[in-house]
Amino acid sequence: MLNIVLFGAPGCGKGTQAARLKEKYGIDHVSTGNVIREEIARGTKLGKEMESYITTGRLAPDQVVIDMIADYIFDGFPRTTHQAEEFDRMLSEQGLKVDVMIYMDVPEEELVKRILLRGKESGRADDASEEVIRDRIKVYHEQTAIVADFYAKQGKFADINGLGTMDEVFDRICQVIDSI
Ligand code: AP5
Ligand code: MG
Repeated sequence: MLNIVLFGAPGCGKGTQAARLKEKYGIDHVSTGNVIREEIARGTKLGKEMESYITTGRLAPDQVVIDMIADYIFDGFPRTTHQAEEFDRMLSEQGLKVDVMIYMDVPEEELVKRILLRGKESGRADDASEEVIRDRIKVYHEQTAIVADFYAKQGKFADINGLGTMDEVFDRICQVIDSI
């Protein structure tokens, strides 16, 4: 069983590529963002706790997110060094590990363009305004980008170009996975 972390800024293509990888490799996929949105839609206690964070583009509290996850293709998790450390600890308790973190590199202006386009239909509160989109990208640089170093130190970091068609990006990711 592979544990793959898809990594990159908001709008880089994590969700898009995870869906395709799930189909090709038969590995389940979890987007912590989707799980949080479902909790909010269902009006659960957890959802209410997370709503103010997600609608303003800030990160939800580490512990709440850590408690929520299992083993899958991880999209949007871990996204702080603390989450990465806790994740490693949880996996190792079960004799598991992250096999690879795949980073999709996409320039900021393209990220904003993609998310604004998606926002026309997604209904996601954090897609509606360019200001919140830019805040999410800022949060990514301030709190999340550093997580790459955590996996790079373990020799598990792979960097791919996230520009191009979805098929081209998918092929690059599959090359990384197939080389493991
Ligand atoms: P999350 O749901 O993870 O959102 P995100 O990181 O902001 O990323 P997106 O889902 O916006 O983008 P994506 O990379 O999945 O790209 P997609 O494939 O959709 O998190 C949302 C919030 O939840 C966070 O801000 C935080 O508040 C909270 N949260 C989540 N996880 C957390 C955690 N671990 N800890 C704390 N808080 C957490 O693609 C984007 C668009 O581009 C789509 O329309 C797609 O069709 C298009 N597209 C994709 N690929 C291409 C391509 N190659 N060319 C052109 N268009 C493309
Ligand atoms: Mg996503």
